[in-house]
Amino acid sequence: MKQRIAVLVSGGGTNLQALLDREKDGAIPSGEIVLVLSNREGAYALTRAANAGKAAYTVTRKKAGSQEAFEKEITRILEDHQVDLIILAGFLAILSQDFTDRWAGRIINIHPSLIPSFCGAGFYGLHVHEAALARGVKVSGATVHYVNEIPDGGEIILQKAVDVLPGDTPETLQKRIMEEAEWILLPQAAELVCRRLQENGGKE
Ligand code: GRF
Repeated sequence: MKQRIAVLVSGGGTNLQALLDREKDGAIPSGEIVLVLSNREGAYALTRAANAGKAAYTVTRKKAGSQEAFEKEITRILEDHQVDLIILAGFLAILSQDFTDRWAGRIINIHPSLIPSFCGAGFYGLHVHEAALARGVKVSGATVHYVNEIPDGGEIILQKAVDVLPGDTPETLQKRIMEEAEWILLPQAAELVCRRLQENGGKE
């Protein structure tokens, strides 16, 4: 049975687009994207979801009123759709240990560096690439990992290295890492984890 995937987003959704495109190409045969959920109203990722004919939801912490209510609402939507796997694709909201424990082995994230470099609290968006350039690394990349209670601390699933080039800015490095690593790696990891879930009957 195809694993039912929810993609959680906060922004532009280029990683979501990569997932939608690869699903359409048949490159994720073990999974099916059943919904997209944003924690930001009006995120462009929601338009991408609609264009692909996917159910799209917005749940904001502000409207929910508390972290608990926010996660409860997300959980309700995930359960309504009988989701097997959650993919965080540029999802910037914090999730509690209660939530990550409940979805242990069924929640993955993409991070734009080679973990354990430039990761953890505060390392998101351009900050990651600023830090990599400030340190002078010659190689960076992307990592897909399982999500646990430690920010960017879960087991690594796939990584891909990308060269840092002379004259790079945080923006050029971010773009190269997306094009050469993130958009390739995330759909591959989605298929890999869906297959793992199928093989072990969904039990971790
Ligand atoms: C990506 O760099 C991803 O690695 C990070 O947030 C960014 C999301 O971009 N976690 P997008 O919304 O997928 O375009």
